Amino acid sequence: MKHARTTIIAGNWKMNYGPKRAAQFTMEILPQLNQLTHHDHNNLLCILCPPTISLETVHQLLQMSHYPHIELGAQNMYFEEQGAFTGEISPLMVHELCRNVILGHSERRMYFGETDEMVHKKTLAAFKHAIRPIVCIGENLAQYEAGQTEQVIRAQVQGALSQLPEEHLGELVIAYEPIWAIGTGKAATPDIAGNVSSFIRHLYGEMYGREAATALHILYGGSVTAANISSFIGHPDVDGALVGGASLKPDFVELVHQAAEAALL
Ligand code: PGA
Repeated sequence: MKHARTTIIAGNWKMNYGPKRAAQFTMEILPQLNQLTHHDHNNLLCILCPPTISLETVHQLLQMSHYPHIELGAQNMYFEEQGAFTGEISPLMVHELCRNVILGHSERRMYFGETDEMVHKKTLAAFKHAIRPIVCIGENLAQYEAGQTEQVIRAQVQGALSQLPEEHLGELVIAYEPIWAIGTGKAATPDIAGNVSSFIRHLYGEMYGREAATALHILYGGSVTAANISSFIGHPDVDGALVGGASLKPDFVELVHQAAEAALL
């Protein structure tokens, strides 16, 4: 095994699959996923992140099945606990159903004006309510082409992830998702994903010390498929993937299978 960290594959369904379709799809993939995550691969965690309106449905299916290595995640949440925030869901609500939440996805930043400051508040709120935050960062195409990747990553990590409570440092998951690779079919090369992940771990170490950096989980996201997942997991600093499009198809099971195999190497 390449390292002691759990391999995490999170499926971000984005704005796809309302309750009915979510139930069908979950029932289709769950038995197969369970076989993969339960038996030989105890070091693998699979997180399903349906849209908010489908969380309860998928939650019930997961509850009935008692699959310990398959968890639920929300795609976003607000940082306040309750009140007049029309359209938002709170950490208390997420906590009722989910152990995970995706925060600061580039689509949230791009279309809904999320800033590093908001992501910071949301991350603290997640920790406070025992929800594992999966914080997304990544540069856009112009920044990538201008060679500014590290600069952008540093600003995002320092902006969104400074002053985290010490007792939760090891629970954080960072997803490195270069925006130019999301939904484009053009994944980053394993070298790029690996190098940036190493840089992120190094930064986290600068901020919080070596132990925290070793415990940190870093996922790669952007056009991950069953065919390319192994090449990413092969890098010592990449602990899994945040998967969009490919998490919506039955082939997601094969992707998780490939990840499990690669993690054992
Ligand atoms: P993709 O999306 O796998 O469809 O590129 C990844 C993401 O946005 O998390």
